[in-house]
Amino acid sequence: MVINNIECFNSKFADIDYNAPDCIALFLCKECQPVVKKLQLTEAAQKSIALYLANNPDIYDVGEIHYLTVLENDKLQQLLLVGCGNGKECSPNNFRKAAGSAIREIRKLHCRNVLAIAPLLLNATRSHYLQALTEGLYLGAYTFQEFKSDSKEVKVCAITIASNIEDGQKVIDNAAIIAESVSYTRNLINRPGNVITPEIMISEAEKAAKEYNLYIEILDEQMLAANNMNAILAVGQGSCHKPCLITLKYQGAGNSPFTAFVGKGITFDSGGISIKPDDNMGEMKDDMSGAGAVLGAIKAIAALKLKCNVMAILACAENMPDGNAQRPGDIVQAANGKTIEVVSTDAEGRMVLADAVWYACRQNAVRVVDVATLTGAVIIALGKETAAVIANNDQLAQNIIKAGKLKGESYWQLPSLPECREALKSDVADLLNSAGRPGGCITGGLFIGEFIANGVEWAHIDIGGTSTADKTSGFKVKGGTGFGTMTLIKLAEML
Ligand code: BES
Ligand code: MN
Ligand code: ZN
Repeated sequence: MVINNIECFNSKFADIDYNAPDCIALFLCKECQPVVKKLQLTEAAQKSIALYLANNPDIYDVGEIHYLTVLENDKLQQLLLVGCGNGKECSPNNFRKAAGSAIREIRKLHCRNVLAIAPLLLNATRSHYLQALTEGLYLGAYTFQEFKSDSKEVKVCAITIASNIEDGQKVIDNAAIIAESVSYTRNLINRPGNVITPEIMISEAEKAAKEYNLYIEILDEQMLAANNMNAILAVGQGSCHKPCLITLKYQGAGNSPFTAFVGKGITFDSGGISIKPDDNMGEMKDDMSGAGAVLGAIKAIAALKLKCNVMAILACAENMPDGNAQRPGDIVQAANGKTIEVVSTDAEGRMVLADAVWYACRQNAVRVVDVATLTGAVIIALGKETAAVIANNDQLAQNIIKAGKLKGESYWQLPSLPECREALKSDVADLLNSAGRPGGCITGGLFIGEFIANGVEWAHIDIGGTSTADKTSGFKVKGGTGFGTMTLIKLAEML
């Protein structure tokens, strides 16, 4: 499968022609280094590597790359030594990162026929290492060129990955499906607000439903009103792009109960009447990253034919100020009957999610995971590398953290104390939509929890910091990261 202009193939070590490639990328941690001798590399390559490693013993930092050029039968072969860790660290996560860095160097060298080789993959049992390496290659190659009128056509680069894993090609193909869905999510995030509107989110969901034969339901403005979903309606009422709630269902496990993945889909967040300051307001085109992640995830879950029942619910609206916009001080009644005092129209994510998670419960989901760029406070609390988890069920939170660890996505659970809920009390309504700055990430999550039906497991993931990257590194590329997509796919696999 060609994704981001590269295509990966598996080959058993015994079948590799070490003369053929114009580039060999050798993935090494310190512990793997002695095993290089066991590879059937050409004599010239072995000699060059041995000499180089003898003189440069400390080249194993993850993603660090060293170039050697080897003369092979009157042909120059590029050899890239790619660091994968300084100790017993050839982990799947280090492979994913190192591969992401390596592929961008390979691109710069204009190599078209590449051999990726890691001594660790001589071991036939390490399929998740192969999967991570492949994901890293595909994801590190991501670029967003859609709006560049001078973008040149890029030639496809074929990468043979050596591994002795029995069904290696299957593992690679699955990694490609995952990387494709993450790249898809990144595209949705990177496209601006004039291109991605709630209507476009509908047509993207319709395409996915058609491609994978998913059940789809769209609640438009009238139907939202018929269901008393006034919280999502209130957020969308200031925009000429009308709000909508999109539900997709994938049934891969017969009649077992559904898990709902619910995404915040604010296609642009100006703040509304509580308008944001103008510096970097354009970054708020990424405020549909949660909806992007759940849509990307359900596409991959269906393509992988996972044995689980999952619904994706996308709560879409544009948050704009105009004569119809909601005002600070407004009181609106959400679908579950609770009234909300709108302290800030910029706390709109929790309002669209209030109705969306209620709808998930009404659709008989036994478990709800919502994903949202909900707060800037999460960046203050945890930085740009870690997403927050707030849950009514610690086991579910732990499973999310575990799934994330396997996919190189970092999570940290924050406390959901009843005391924190006090701050959401309103004098005039049931709830405030904002409890101010203290613990803003926690109170934002707890607000959403107020709309979960009794007995339903729930976790909220705040990707306010992780949904975009300020710089390219490893498998992450500057811009939309698609954070959460891989975790949700893994979580579905674990169900
Ligand atoms: N989409 C923003 C959260 C956000 C801001 C994420 C900056 C990443 C970077 C959200 O809708 C928002 O505006 N949240 C407010 C909540 C506040 C008014 C309670 C915030 O974080 O300031
Ligand atoms: Mn906002
Ligand atoms: Zn927002």
